[in-house]
Amino acid sequence: MSTGPQAPTAPFGTVFGETMAVARWAHGAWDTPTLGPVEPFSFHPATHVFHYGSACFEGLKAHRGHDDVVRIFRLDRHVERMQKSAQLLYLPEPGAELLASMIRDVVEANRDQVPVAPGSLYLRPTLIGTEPNIGAAAVPSKEAVLYVLASPVGDYFAGGIRPLRLLVETHRPRTTPQFGMVKSGANYVMALGITMRAKSDLGVDQVLFAPDRVVQETGAANFLLIDSERIITPALTESFLHGVTRDSVLRIALDLGYEVEERPITVDEIVEWSARDDAEAALSGTAAILASVGTLVLDGEDLSVGSGEVGSNTLRLRKALTDLHVGQSPDVYGWLTDV
Ligand SMILES: Cc1ncc(COP(=O)(O)O)c(C=O)c1O
Repeated sequence: MSTGPQAPTAPFGTVFGETMAVARWAHGAWDTPTLGPVEPFSFHPATHVFHYGSACFEGLKAHRGHDDVVRIFRLDRHVERMQKSAQLLYLPEPGAELLASMIRDVVEANRDQVPVAPGSLYLRPTLIGTEPNIGAAAVPSKEAVLYVLASPVGDYFAGGIRPLRLLVETHRPRTTPQFGMVKSGANYVMALGITMRAKSDLGVDQVLFAPDRVVQETGAANFLLIDSERIITPALTESFLHGVTRDSVLRIALDLGYEVEERPITVDEIVEWSARDDAEAALSGTAAILASVGTLVLDGEDLSVGSGEVGSNTLRLRKALTDLHVGQSPDVYGWLTDV
């Protein structure tokens, strides 16, 4: 029997586990990470990250199963992606074992705060350039801090499983195209203005960025077209984040007998696709899991995706994924790290 706490009802990401891990990099080397209470850092106002955006992060989850085992989902993949982000931003790349052990230690230390499903413990490894030097605009920070924060979470989208409404933005990209695959704060803030305006003017949940009418992703999730036979999703490019959930859903879908197509998707294709009764579309991400898209707002008009309701294939794939998260189905892909 599961004995974990219920997920907090506070908004996603506003409640924190008591313990975090911290490692510092200076003189070309990492010190030994420490575990301690979550408390404020103190940084000089000239700190590199405040001026030159030297920051990247990750987002992954640990789930508590009905057997009370806590499992981290696809730890290796998230560690690899953070290493890639660090490389691309000229931040010091943490060794895979250093970062993985910090994440495992934080889950272990906050074990009592891992909620029962559908809640989970969201993990936020973060890496920032901390050299106090406002003259370092064109050079990497000589100092850095890596920390791992934990946050017990419930549902990302308020209202649970419901069909989402997205604006299709056909002109502007989410961020600078060659940095879309980096999980860096700058990418999120660049998408903010468009997203805020779309939310307030059109009442949408998110924006699907499709510059030049070719689909990329939303502000925090990847995009998939789904029906009872196939999954179609944009092929990986530098312009959007290579989602671990996307990869997981595609793998599960193949094994459930779906055909998987990774290729460019145009806005015209989405319009044609949406007109079919059995059409589904979804967003994938660690926070969103797999969320149905019911309506697209395109060129000023509402377009229903299929029935406009939550799709049955989307739900089937979502369940296959969440069953894996909590150890309800066997870990056939070796994606889980027990803590
Ligand atoms: C911009 C963006 N795209 C896609 C994703 C999905 O990635 P993942 O499935 O690894 O969480 C995220 C979420 O973290 C994101 O922030």
